[in-house]
Amino acid sequence: MPSVAAGAEPRPRRKALPADREPIIRLEGASLVYGGPQGVVALMDANLRIDAGELVAVVGPSGCGKSSLLKLVSGLHPARSGSVVVAGRPVTGPLKICGMAFQNAMLLPWRTTIGNVLLPLEIVDSHAARFRRHRAEYEAQARELLATVGLAGFEDKYPWQLSGGMQQRASLCRALIHSPELLLLDEPFASLDPFTREELWDVVQDLWLERRPTVVLVTHDLREAVYLADTVYVISPRPGRVLSRTTIDLPRPRRLADTYKPQFIDVSHALREQIATGARP
Ligand SMILES: Nc1ncnc2c1ncn2[C@@H]1O[C@H](COP(=O)(O)OP(=O)(O)OP(=O)(O)O)[C@@H](O)[C@H]1O
Ligand SMILES: [Mg+2]
Repeated sequence: MPSVAAGAEPRPRRKALPADREPIIRLEGASLVYGGPQGVVALMDANLRIDAGELVAVVGPSGCGKSSLLKLVSGLHPARSGSVVVAGRPVTGPLKICGMAFQNAMLLPWRTTIGNVLLPLEIVDSHAARFRRHRAEYEAQARELLATVGLAGFEDKYPWQLSGGMQQRASLCRALIHSPELLLLDEPFASLDPFTREELWDVVQDLWLERRPTVVLVTHDLREAVYLADTVYVISPRPGRVLSRTTIDLPRPRRLADTYKPQFIDVSHALREQIATGARP
């Protein structure tokens, strides 16, 4: 899979989708509560719509319900009230169309890098039979994906033989191997040093430009949110509500030098202000 080379011609922005087109993710008045009636209200009356192919960032203070939002969308936790619709269907259990990556790479220590990347193909029913019949083909795809993120030559190493950044790259490949329509990323770069993190921003941006999955990226890093996203949602302190939706209208591919430009800095500051005050703009 070719990646977008630095300095390549900027691709034209996708045309705006017609307003009446069904979004791939639609939350209407969705609430998530952990525990019984006296439980923790993590999300309250959340409303948002995410179009297919959009790259969305979700930001907000610690504990405001960002990970909970991903649990609602992926079907890992049910809504207490309101509705969660993904790809035209109400979410009633874990979804197969999504790939997920988390703050910690969470690779299986007894499997090699390529063994970890191939895992979703082995365990997701809809892929397992085809995977068994065409294993060599899928292995070739996994190697290509690993090469794209700079892990050529490390396919047969175990997680403990990789650096933290390399493990995180492998975890991204695992989330992508079954070409999910929907990619849910929960602070996937939080534990990395700033240089590795910025390198991985470009890995994600290039993969997104190439494949155009819908991406929901949860992050605390506002530079990361503005660098990568088409749209940034700010969530209020718990119980989390959607405070604002900001469109990031910067041309792509974005480059690190763009993060020092006034327009970029202004948007990041405005988001920081909203998070600090917890007030709608
Ligand atoms: N399994 C759980 N059982 C009970 N309460 C939970 C559970 N998971 C999360 N919570 C609570 O729900 C609230 C929202 O948690 P969530 O993990 O969604 O926050 P977050 O925005 O992702 O935070 P962070 O930025 O620190 O990752 C928090 O108050 C948390 O304590
Ligand atoms: Mg979280």
